[in-house]
Amino acid sequence: MANQRMIDECLSIRDGRLFMEECDTTALVKRFGSPVFVMSENQLRRNYRRYREAFAGHWPEGRVEILPAIKANWLPAVRRILTLEGAGCDVYSAGELRSALDSGVDPDLVSVNGGGKSEGYIGTCLRAGVKITVDDLDELDIIEKVAAQLGVRARVRLRLRPDFPNLWQPTGFAAEMVPIDLGFQVYKNGIPTEHVIPLGKRALASAHIDLAGVHMHLGRHHYSLAVWRETIRRYAGLIARLRDLWGGWTPREIDVGGGIPTPRDPFGRMMASAGETLLFAGLWAGLIALKVLGEQRRYGVISRIMPLFLGKKGVRMRPAIEDYARDITQTLRGALAGEGISTRGVTFQIEPGRSLYGNAGIHLSTVVKTKHQSRPIAWNWVLLDTTYFFFAGGVYEGNRHEFVWANRALDAPVKLADIVGRSCYADRILPEVKIPHVVPGDIIAIFDTGAYQDVSACNFNAMPRPATILVNGAEAEVIRRAETQDEVFARDMVPQRFKV
Ligand SMILES: Cc1ncc(COP(=O)(O)O)c(C=O)c1O
Repeated sequence: MANQRMIDECLSIRDGRLFMEECDTTALVKRFGSPVFVMSENQLRRNYRRYREAFAGHWPEGRVEILPAIKANWLPAVRRILTLEGAGCDVYSAGELRSALDSGVDPDLVSVNGGGKSEGYIGTCLRAGVKITVDDLDELDIIEKVAAQLGVRARVRLRLRPDFPNLWQPTGFAAEMVPIDLGFQVYKNGIPTEHVIPLGKRALASAHIDLAGVHMHLGRHHYSLAVWRETIRRYAGLIARLRDLWGGWTPREIDVGGGIPTPRDPFGRMMASAGETLLFAGLWAGLIALKVLGEQRRYGVISRIMPLFLGKKGVRMRPAIEDYARDITQTLRGALAGEGISTRGVTFQIEPGRSLYGNAGIHLSTVVKTKHQSRPIAWNWVLLDTTYFFFAGGVYEGNRHEFVWANRALDAPVKLADIVGRSCYADRILPEVKIPHVVPGDIIAIFDTGAYQDVSACNFNAMPRPATILVNGAEAEVIRRAETQDEVFARDMVPQRFKV
């Protein structure tokens, strides 16, 4: 096709307009309204198949189970695509378990994670025949009691918390600017090793518990494969230590959790490296030192130097899934072999979330207004008809997404601006980005919103949440309709005595 440029596997620019698969995104907005989330069915399928093939190829000695984290996107239509592909599921709540089972996931491929599971919930898990990942000290007692009542043997895995003292890179997860080893310490999940040692012995002695394996989830601390290799080495070391303390027991299932980012990691923390931290500290001191110039001249200088530092992309590219699969399976196999543990027949499990759904989704929104000030600091704002409250998960993680102007995708950037949402907060969806000349009615496409965004949207400022559209080739259909204004208030009750 003339004038076509691919952005990635599902997004392309054709004659200056953004297409997802074969659908013109500007036409999607005309047809379905704005703002709107859009998912690419074929990208999701590709992402899943890539995981399946990479891990099956690198783990020939045992079964491979891909258990996508449903928390990242629990829209039933999205989940059904993965079920049809044969994927299992990682669930974190009773609602997610229901959604997984309703969409036909094989219970044998469901991993129930998370702390604080109630007795009723554990009963539901045992009746459904899913695997339970034990995350609390008293959970095993509850499982044992309920399993005895039901006359079943519960298949459990213990969620471990290895130590990672060599991981000194700044974490992309914790709000604090700390290295990964410390960032991981404040993450609540997993049973501390001092407690897991006696717990495992009890599990092995119980007639109602089948201790099938172990689980560990690092989380999205870093994209670097060196971090992943070190994590896996530590995990293998802890497994060997438990083997020694638990009379030679070794796991039949090893789950490595999720955490590798989307291909365009929308990493948003300001200070990703020691160099950036020093730069930031220097800038801060410089901004204060400029006070000697007096108010007017200081702002003038700041206005001139700011464009040199702002407008940089927050996005960084993570390694390919094939490399990730090779590195973590080789490291696991090698480290366990070094401890005398064979992986032959061991089931390898992985629970991708963001890396599976993220780049299959975009968010389309329309410009409502633009605004400019020249003093004391020159600044531009572009106000959208959406809000960062529709991306709550991404805001929490400080994401800085890539984007394209869907109806003027080839226009050159001419200025810096904050692209902001319509809530009463600062709502800086895309702070300090370079933009072309845009006007009300233009459409922006924010990339990589397929994981943790749509599902974390909330109603701040009484705003109804947007619809979600599924694109497949040239076809597009609604898979979640937009909320109505009435629905925003549907759960509220006003006591009779307040009624006028
Ligand atoms: C147990 C578990 N598995 C998998 C995931 C998915 O992680 P990600 O989306 O970073 O791949 C999470 C996320 O919190 C998790 O807690």
